[in-house]
Amino acid sequence: MLERDIEKTFYSQEQIQDRIKVLGAAISNDYADKNPLVVGVLKGAVPFLADLVRSMNIHMEMDFMDVSSYGNATVSSGEVRILKDLSTVVEGRHIIIVEDIIDSGRTLRYLVDLLLHRKAASVKIVTMLDKPEGRVVDMEADYIGFEVPNEFVVGYGLDYAEDYRNLPYIGVLKPEIYENN
Ligand code: PRP
Ligand code: MN
Ligand code: MG
Repeated sequence: MLERDIEKTFYSQEQIQDRIKVLGAAISNDYADKNPLVVGVLKGAVPFLADLVRSMNIHMEMDFMDVSSYGNATVSSGEVRILKDLSTVVEGRHIIIVEDIIDSGRTLRYLVDLLLHRKAASVKIVTMLDKPEGRVVDMEADYIGFEVPNEFVVGYGLDYAEDYRNLPYIGVLKPEIYENN
């Protein structure tokens, strides 16, 4: 069972879903009539994006990019690579990048600069989690679900070695899970 590996819950399923309704309403208000392009950053953003877009009562499009900065490790390598690009033309579009977490800020710094270079009309960021203590480059989200301290969290899209993404809440793993690897 997945739940056995979790030491404590940081944000429950209910807290997450309540917060998403607030974020979705704010974004809907700001983007009514803008037909934004919602860009999910694979793979971590998928559960959050799926819930968020269903709380947005406006016309929008979605697309996905895979920009990876971590290997199977708990610490960022600092390397950013495009594994999958958008299939949508960005020029003139209002972009909302959806992330599960901002840690060092490197992934988003790279993405924002890339989309501005492609002449997006605007680029804003919505992240489920913000880990301000992890920041290495200057990067701030426009819409934030919750702040987390400098601990390794999993669930709701966030993985440890690709595992635990499907946990419906955000938690911390028991130390023995890492020790067994
Ligand atoms: C994680 C997370 C963010 C990024 C945040 O993705 O989902 O995209 O790292 O870290 P940063 O602010 O230090 O760049 P990862 O590269 O692990 O890929 P994944 O989403 O497929 O897990
Ligand atoms: Mn990611
Ligand atoms: Mg990851």
